[in-house]
Amino acid sequence: MDWDAWHDEYDTPGTRLARRLVVVREQLTIALDSAPPGPIEILSMCAGQGRDVIGVLPEHPRRADVTALLVELDPRNVTKAKEAAADAGLDNVEIREGDAGSTDNYVDLAPAQIVLACGIFGNVLPETADKAIGFFPGLCKPGADLIWTGGRVGLFELVRSSLAKNEFEQQFVSDPRETQFGVGRHTYRGEAQPLGRGTTMFTFDKPH
Ligand SMILES: C[S@@+](CC[C@H](N)C(=O)[O-])C[C@H]1O[C@@H](n2cnc3c(N)ncnc32)[C@H](O)[C@@H]1O
Repeated sequence: MDWDAWHDEYDTPGTRLARRLVVVREQLTIALDSAPPGPIEILSMCAGQGRDVIGVLPEHPRRADVTALLVELDPRNVTKAKEAAADAGLDNVEIREGDAGSTDNYVDLAPAQIVLACGIFGNVLPETADKAIGFFPGLCKPGADLIWTGGRVGLFELVRSSLAKNEFEQQFVSDPRETQFGVGRHTYRGEAQPLGRGTTMFTFDKPH
């Protein structure tokens, strides 16, 4: 997969990814609107070009409260995300080139108030998705919002049931009549969990 070219679809209005981005940005706005007073940490795993976070923060009234960490492996996407953040004057957004599956990349910022897992579940096997979600409590503050995407078929129900098993309460799932993508927002209702170093939460192991 060419993960730089994958983003081109965002630039054509009405496409699957352009429609999905609208929903993800809406959910991120709601998560920011409802965050408690004080600092807001945002973690984005497999952040790509950061079109969700960098698309929402510049106009959001809580912008100054945010410290964001976007983790992305493809250096071309890292460069584009850094350019977009700089153009928007977002000096509180770090784009880190690295393995988003490794807990090592989050220990300096976690637990976060908002976690994004967008574009991950379509690229992993079911057992990997279930295992990865088991680590998400360590990324999240109690009360944190997790925003995620997944195809409306396939892993969608597995992700929902795995999130429920790990004490994430569903706040939103996208309209089932939109069959080309799914978006969810869940709130972590469990206790604070430690996030250890040196753990691989997931790798993109689904054959394309
Ligand atoms: C489907 S795209 C989603 C990008 C972004 N989250 C979005 O929704 O627009 C998946 C992204 O994950 C990145 N990626 C794949 N494996 C990764 C890994 N182990 N660590 C960090 N990023 C990874 C790819 O380079 C790609 O940009």
